[in-house]
Amino acid sequence: NKSEHYSAQVRPPGTSRRIPQTIIIGVRKGGTRALLEMLDVHPNIVVAATEVHFFDWDENYMKGIDWYRSLMPFSYENQITIEKTPGYFTSPQAPERIHDMNSSIKLLLILRDPTERVISDYTQVYYNRLESHKPVQLFEDIVIKNGALNTKYKAIQRSLYDIHMERWLKHFHLDQIHIVDGNTLIKDPLPELQKVERFLNLPSRIMSSNFYFNQTKGFYCIRSDGRERCLHESKGRPHPVVNSTVLEQLYSYFREHNAKFYRMINHSFDWH
Ligand code: A3P
Repeated sequence: NKSEHYSAQVRPPGTSRRIPQTIIIGVRKGGTRALLEMLDVHPNIVVAATEVHFFDWDENYMKGIDWYRSLMPFSYENQITIEKTPGYFTSPQAPERIHDMNSSIKLLLILRDPTERVISDYTQVYYNRLESHKPVQLFEDIVIKNGALNTKYKAIQRSLYDIHMERWLKHFHLDQIHIVDGNTLIKDPLPELQKVERFLNLPSRIMSSNFYFNQTKGFYCIRSDGRERCLHESKGRPHPVVNSTVLEQLYSYFREHNAKFYRMINHSFDWH
């Protein structure tokens, strides 16, 4: 059993801890956890259990590459190690730092409609604040300030994919960054995962039998090694119903950025 194997503290014979050959760089709330967990089904993939924040947090980056490696799971030589930290995509330092480590690395980026991403981001913060008994605000009260869109809102900034992508493309070739469609991963995960297998030059091992739709959760869950599991309850939470005028304002704000992003990557999505 793969997961038992790698959670063990003792090193299984023939394995070692390796620096990731692939990193899921984001975007926050794009479906990064689902992508990582679904890829973990592949026998040639091992994943770091937690978000490492090596390239985006200075205090971690200062600890050096050996510290980073020490957080990776044990792997066999024919296996690819994957780490995911959604904050990398929007971090000013991450592209250059990752390039310094491995200029030919393959990067995975999962994106979804930027407006949906803002609402998902808000929903996560909303629940975090509720849990720590902090005051919460309505979505509309954060997004609209003095009658205009509050473009300084961090969640809106994070959805400006063109601006972030431009930084990555200063350091990496477009063909080193594979973009996963987060909306499609929700509705029909297998084809998106098969594209990733091809991008990583891995044999096709992820099967439709690895997924089943869970009616209660309303999302696909994972079947692997004879076990069935869904993502944590914080993944796939219901979103607030947003005022339609505010929605339109968000759509129209992102439209130009999306168009620029599509030109940058020579591909378009059916975002609003
Ligand atoms: P919501 O909770 O807003 O619906 P991340 O892991 O990057 O934080 O992304 C979380 C998002 O992953 C969820 O956002 C959800 O829409 C999406 N997701 C994709 N596939 C999923 C799955 N099989 N189960 C649960 N959430 C999934």
